[in-house]
Amino acid sequence: MTDLKALQNEIAAKLSEIKDVQSLESLRVAYLGRKGKVADFFREMGSLPAEERRQFGQGLNQLKEFSEQAFNDKQKSFSSSKIKSAFDETLPGVRPHLGRLHPITQTIQEITSIFAQLGFEVVDGREIETEFYNFTALNIQLDHPSRDAFDTFYTDQGHLLRSQTSTVQIRVMENRKPPVRIIAPGKVYRPDAVDASHSFMFHQIEGLLVDDRTTFSDLKGIIYLFLRKLFGKNIKMRFKPHFFPFTEPSVDVDISWGKGWLEVLGAGQVDPAVFKAVGYNPAKVQGFAFGLGVERIAMLKYGIKDIRLFFENDQRFLEQF
Ligand code: PHE
Repeated sequence: MTDLKALQNEIAAKLSEIKDVQSLESLRVAYLGRKGKVADFFREMGSLPAEERRQFGQGLNQLKEFSEQAFNDKQKSFSSSKIKSAFDETLPGVRPHLGRLHPITQTIQEITSIFAQLGFEVVDGREIETEFYNFTALNIQLDHPSRDAFDTFYTDQGHLLRSQTSTVQIRVMENRKPPVRIIAPGKVYRPDAVDASHSFMFHQIEGLLVDDRTTFSDLKGIIYLFLRKLFGKNIKMRFKPHFFPFTEPSVDVDISWGKGWLEVLGAGQVDPAVFKAVGYNPAKVQGFAFGLGVERIAMLKYGIKDIRLFFENDQRFLEQF
């Protein structure tokens, strides 16, 4: 009997030291398992004289009950303390981390909303195009040297990644009758070596307005209004003669920046050859088109010096917008 008392104390002592469920389980196996210490005592009981056996058996049963209860209590203490640590109403809540729109997306939205106020409809184009939409219909002939200026990614299936959003001019005019007043933001691709100011992918916004009488001064008025809305009322603007195959006359548009001038977009009166390509009668309609680079505008607006920052997706950069 003293052995049983000692065993009970031993179990109680060991249990009080247990700190996790795993060691509780191995302790349970060591004492209450099929080959555990309590089972050993039951086996020994067989060799006792009959008169002792009864008493020992009772003591052993009590020990077993006591131990099972003690193990179960210990087990419960673990699960209830777990629940406590999982929910502590005194702790402040966990704030969900809110994402935000990419600075390029924000810039596109800002620009398109200015043109939306001027009655332009935002339309979508395709990024995978054919030579017809990227070049031919835009009056860029196959052997025309200006095609070199629009270096292009070609696929082996006769398609290409559009190198300019001017493709959308053609797609829209093919499917609609004038008047047309659209703005088309999207990605364009050119096989340029990546550096601080070049990327093989960037964003452009194309604008197109066609009506029965649309003059060059309409173009100038709209562009000036737009640039003042975007960069502020004090901005100065100038047109420089330029060449684009799909507009005639064509200009590069500069804005005053610091002590000098910066080129921000290309524009011009839609070339009659483009109208012919889409089935419009050049004697009946006039229009203007323009195209701008979104990264360029965003870099100016936010003072960003390296175009690669837009595409590296470093949260420390993106969080600032
Ligand atoms: N597509 C021209 C470019 O990528 C920009 C442009 C668009 C110029 C429309 C004139 C009219 O450089």
